[in-house]
Amino acid sequence: MKEPLILGIESSCDETAAAVIRGRMLLSDEIISSAAIQAQYGGVVPEIASRAHTDAIGEVVSRALRAADVGKEELDAVAVTYGAGLLGALLVGLSFAKGLAYSLKIPLIGVNHIRGHLAACYLEDETLKPPFVTLLASGGHTAILFAETETAFEILGGTRDDAAGEAFDKVARILGLPYPGGPHVEALAREGKNVVPMPKMLKGQGGYDFSYSGLKTHVINYAHTMSQKGASWSKADLACSFQHAALDILVEKTVEAAKEKGCDTVAAGGGVIANGYLRESLSAACERAGLKLVLPARRRCTDNAAMIAAEGLIQYRAGNFSPLTLNAEASIPLR
Ligand code: KG4
Ligand code: ZN
Repeated sequence: MKEPLILGIESSCDETAAAVIRGRMLLSDEIISSAAIQAQYGGVVPEIASRAHTDAIGEVVSRALRAADVGKEELDAVAVTYGAGLLGALLVGLSFAKGLAYSLKIPLIGVNHIRGHLAACYLEDETLKPPFVTLLASGGHTAILFAETETAFEILGGTRDDAAGEAFDKVARILGLPYPGGPHVEALAREGKNVVPMPKMLKGQGGYDFSYSGLKTHVINYAHTMSQKGASWSKADLACSFQHAALDILVEKTVEAAKEKGCDTVAAGGGVIANGYLRESLSAACERAGLKLVLPARRRCTDNAAMIAAEGLIQYRAGNFSPLTLNAEASIPLR
């Protein structure tokens, strides 16, 4: 059977992205980012994001088709993020996708952004099949999931307050680092040592749940107290110690969950999975536990359209198509 050719479109935050896949084979993966503009404001300004998407959407889709060497009339479906995200930003990608689907008479597939992050691993390993345990860590979510099939998963645990990426962004702000904080905290942490005492992370009774607000407050208080005292302290050591506390718990609980579920495979997705320290420690822990690990390439951990096309393929195979009346949604539950 011929594999479907799917265009994925993503515009939920500050990346305007388009990608083409044939089956699980990635043919192109293009991004036009407004992150550098947003960085001047210390975060994403919704109106600026919408304007940037409007300027970039036509160009990014053309680039993706060109790089894949396909004409739009060859497409079998258009998959697009319809939520969660900034409404104005989502509407740009969604309206564009609807226009394409209507004019080409092909199905529209509305994709839940978070499910997209989870589907990125399928592009990394074409042989990957559920069941497996997967770690989701992004700016809005932190959870451990048991993927029973490509479309059904059980939530084993999630964050009780902040998401891991959110904690990185807030710590970056305290340390005077630019938006988005994660990569900057990671770079600074590489220059420091894990020597600043950090609070205990949620274990035992907490099961597979996480809590990041205590860790974040601890880092804020430490930085303020040391500055007020005029004591000499190292931002790099604080970044490194925070990074260990924030990420070691993710590794520990993910491996524990895989063992409990009797899985031999672990996967992951979301912006925080781009973190080099996390990737190395998760790889080492999986190797020690005899688990196979499937990690999406770094650029497919942060927002991209290849993952939206990958989730689109799953929905295409399941026959889940969306009406052209599909609306953008600012927040949607994980499932
Ligand atoms: O998945 P993503 O691109 O967007 C959401 O759907 O939320 O994740 C963005 C989050 C941000 O909080 C960002 O600081 C974090 O992922 N992030 C990182 C790294 N790269 C991005 N966190 C830690 N280390 C990184 N290298
Ligand atoms: Zn995302």
